[in-house]
Amino acid sequence: MNNGHEFPENFFIGTATSAHQVEGGNSLNDWWKFEQKEKKIEGGQKSGRAIDQYHKFREDFQLLAGRGFKAHRISIEWSRIIPKPNEVNQKEIDHYREVLTALKETGQEPYVTLHHFTSPQWFMELGGFEKRENLSHWRFWVTTVVENLGDLINIYNTINEPYIYATLGYLKGWHSPGKTSIRSFVRITENITQAHFIAVGIIRQKDPEAKVGIVKNMMDFKALRKWSPIDQLIKIFSEFPFQGSFLRKFMKKKTPIFGRKIKEGDPGDFIGVNYYIPQYCGLGIKGLSDSFDYRKARKLTQMNWEVHPKGLYNILKKVSKRVNLPIIITENGIATLDDDWRKEFIFQHLSEVQRAISEGVDVQGYFHWSAFDNFEWAEGYTPRFGLVEVDMETLERKTRGSLDYLSQIAKSGTLFPPTD
Ligand code: FCB
Repeated sequence: MNNGHEFPENFFIGTATSAHQVEGGNSLNDWWKFEQKEKKIEGGQKSGRAIDQYHKFREDFQLLAGRGFKAHRISIEWSRIIPKPNEVNQKEIDHYREVLTALKETGQEPYVTLHHFTSPQWFMELGGFEKRENLSHWRFWVTTVVENLGDLINIYNTINEPYIYATLGYLKGWHSPGKTSIRSFVRITENITQAHFIAVGIIRQKDPEAKVGIVKNMMDFKALRKWSPIDQLIKIFSEFPFQGSFLRKFMKKKTPIFGRKIKEGDPGDFIGVNYYIPQYCGLGIKGLSDSFDYRKARKLTQMNWEVHPKGLYNILKKVSKRVNLPIIITENGIATLDDDWRKEFIFQHLSEVQRAISEGVDVQGYFHWSAFDNFEWAEGYTPRFGLVEVDMETLERKTRGSLDYLSQIAKSGTLFPPTD
């Protein structure tokens, strides 16, 4: 019997990470280089050994095992496997074979991301995704993964957050490579979207059984002052290119800005959605849009983000209107030291997921960001997103109450509010 709080049979819960944020020692990628520059990372921090998951993956997967989590999202580090153009490092292939095998042994299905913000330094020196001809290196990378690890991978995520990658790395300059150029931004957006379709084409050809999807960041755009036509206009002009137009062209196999037809591949078997924040648009806001309403004193997370669960419902509805594919929430989480707040966050967001499902939206999974405290890009180690706390000095892991809470939901397939 469905008491209204049960998830459908096909709905799963899991947790997520990405290679550079947890592995440590990723000295061959562009972020490593970026971190050495002054004033790029909060307080001059560096990813360094991160939480050393490169060596501790077994114990980490064990911590997540037997908790009702059916899947775990990780990424595979391109710069480790392809340290130089067209050169494959067999030792790293063997390493990831061990990682994937260990993960599967805990009963969690690996959701494998092929690009989660980092690229090999040599690839960036060649111009990275700014140059279309470099897509041949991307082809080589995807082919290498599918041929060498594909027997252990059933589900792929191609590109993590194409627009965020392009915006933060090439327009705002906050992420690697720290560029602030509209031209570069446009090129990246066009080419990295094409990279998704190329990856799908390769996966379809080499492993027709595998499932694949892109991961799109979505924000709940709002006019700061609902009654203001100017704020409404700013909202439309901010939201449309970032979300509506992107999704529409994506489903038609067109590049996001110029709408160039992409020949190979297809949109995928599902769409991954990352949701964190509202986006207030209007006059009086620096940069015309921001993640909190500066006029209201609300509790903000360690990222200075406002918590806005209803936004998840709103974007699920929007995505389902534009995209005729099942939705997997590939990231959603909160940076805070207040674990009760994290539990509340989980409850409120999953309630909105259930509301969307009850109205017919085909949401099939939820990954919480993140399984572990980790290196949060330009913000360094200060924001704590983990269901598992990590002492960054000793690297000791300690499970948080929110991990048990999410685990009880996953095991029972039922949503209930947190109790103390
Ligand atoms: C997303 C990233 C992820 C993490 C969260 C907080 O944009 O995909 O790596 O940093 O934000």
